[in-house]
Amino acid sequence: MHRTGYSNGNVEYNLGGSGAYNFSQHKFQPRSQPALRRRRNLIIRLSLIIIGCFAIFLFFSPSLRAGILGVLSLGLFTASEDSQLETVRYYDLSHVQGTARGWDREERILLCAPLRDAAPHLPMFFSHLKNLTYPHNLIDLAFLVGDSKDKTLPLLHELLEDLQAGESPKERYGEISIMEKDFGQIVNQDVESRHGFAAQAGRRKSMARSRNWLLSAALRPTHSWVYWRDVDVETAPFTILEDLMRHNKDVIVPNVWRPLPDWLGGEQPYDLNSWQESETALALADTLPEDSVIVEGYAEYATWRPHLAYLRDPYGDPDMEMELDGVGGVSILAKAKVFRSGVHFPAFSFEKHAETEGFGKMAKRMKFSVVGLPHYTIWHLYEPSVDDIRHMEEMEKERKEKEAKEKAEKDRMDKIKSQFDNPAGQWDKDKSDIREIAKKAEGNEPTGEKHKKEHVDKVAAAAGKDKTGVKGKIGGNKVEEAKIVQDIEEVAGEEEGDQIAP
Ligand SMILES: *[C@@H]1O[C@H](CO)[C@@H](O)[C@H](O)[C@H]1NC(C)=O
Repeated sequence: MHRTGYSNGNVEYNLGGSGAYNFSQHKFQPRSQPALRRRRNLIIRLSLIIIGCFAIFLFFSPSLRAGILGVLSLGLFTASEDSQLETVRYYDLSHVQGTARGWDREERILLCAPLRDAAPHLPMFFSHLKNLTYPHNLIDLAFLVGDSKDKTLPLLHELLEDLQAGESPKERYGEISIMEKDFGQIVNQDVESRHGFAAQAGRRKSMARSRNWLLSAALRPTHSWVYWRDVDVETAPFTILEDLMRHNKDVIVPNVWRPLPDWLGGEQPYDLNSWQESETALALADTLPEDSVIVEGYAEYATWRPHLAYLRDPYGDPDMEMELDGVGGVSILAKAKVFRSGVHFPAFSFEKHAETEGFGKMAKRMKFSVVGLPHYTIWHLYEPSVDDIRHMEEMEKERKEKEAKEKAEKDRMDKIKSQFDNPAGQWDKDKSDIREIAKKAEGNEPTGEKHKKEHVDKVAAAAGKDKTGVKGKIGGNKVEEAKIVQDIEEVAGEEEGDQIAP
């Protein structure tokens, strides 16, 4: 993996040890005998040389230096003064508070994406990553892969290689962390199980756990922002990070809708977890046991809260803000200081809420600003529910039945039309039948073929002036038919005679 260190480190090397020379400095001494003085000078010089050698030795042997200086200092130096350790990093957290123009100030963002059986959506997610306009080198990626039975992990590796293959350093993302941890979720990942009411509280608590694990493992002192993004977002502005950051809020979310097939109305609010607190909901919360978790968007809890999703006006000002209490987790931009202050995703009932909704409430409780943008919308992927699929299958079946019915009806009408509206057709057929009979009667006479034909027509016409009448007779009465054939034979014979005798 691509790993880059971003140490703000101020590793100071305080080499040679000021302490080592301190005790060797000349002091004022009373006069003494010259010989004694010379001996003393020699001793001092020798000691200086020995100490110098020792100091040089210390310089090249850090471990001995650390040990000896530690002993020498006898705890007189504090830890910060003792910063000759190469592993010490220094961070000034007042520089990573997050501002409205983070991209200008090189503020780093930690982008967190929890993944669970996410393989089908990963290529789309990486397409989004490639399109983000915030300088990629300022974004660190953190993935938590858990409880996945599909190819999420190998696919993730593959897509990351591709993502980081960019030419310019600005195209390449910063540090990338992949955490693996199963939380043993019992709830299936299919749409029905995920969104069923009964599963919600347990599912939300489990999601909360994985978010907390991911964040606590990946957040570095260099991050000013944390961006949470679901992989199944289908459409979002490439500038979303800057767009959200410009508001300079502690926690901010866009509106999240999803497209729908036409028969379901074309579009629909998706994320109902972003809401403002209501009196009704607070009253309801008071009646519930301590451990219960209210989940928004289900008829079971009628909270009458104003939802961010329902306030959307497609032509509204995308910069309009709305104060929120609960937030949804599809796309959250938060200042890292919110998390550093201890706000997290409660995996328990916090004010009767868990996970992202509980996070919103907790941030609010700690006096952070929590805001949503009702007219700034991103689009979640439409995954048909089991009901939708059933409905669509029924519609498809109905459509096919209708088509088959229409075709059968059309065929029937065509047949009737050919029988009644076009008697000439039937007449021609009858005519050729008669001709056939005449031909048989005539034998294999090659000459006079043309005349014969004309005569047959003549005779047939003579047999009944009304064509339909003839048809009726021919079709119906055997005796009549025989009679006409006989007439034809007679006429044909005359004709032949005519021909033979010019
Ligand atoms: C990313 O940008 C490309 C080129 O504009 C576009 O074709 C693609 O659909 C975008 N991806 C997403 C997920 O919006």
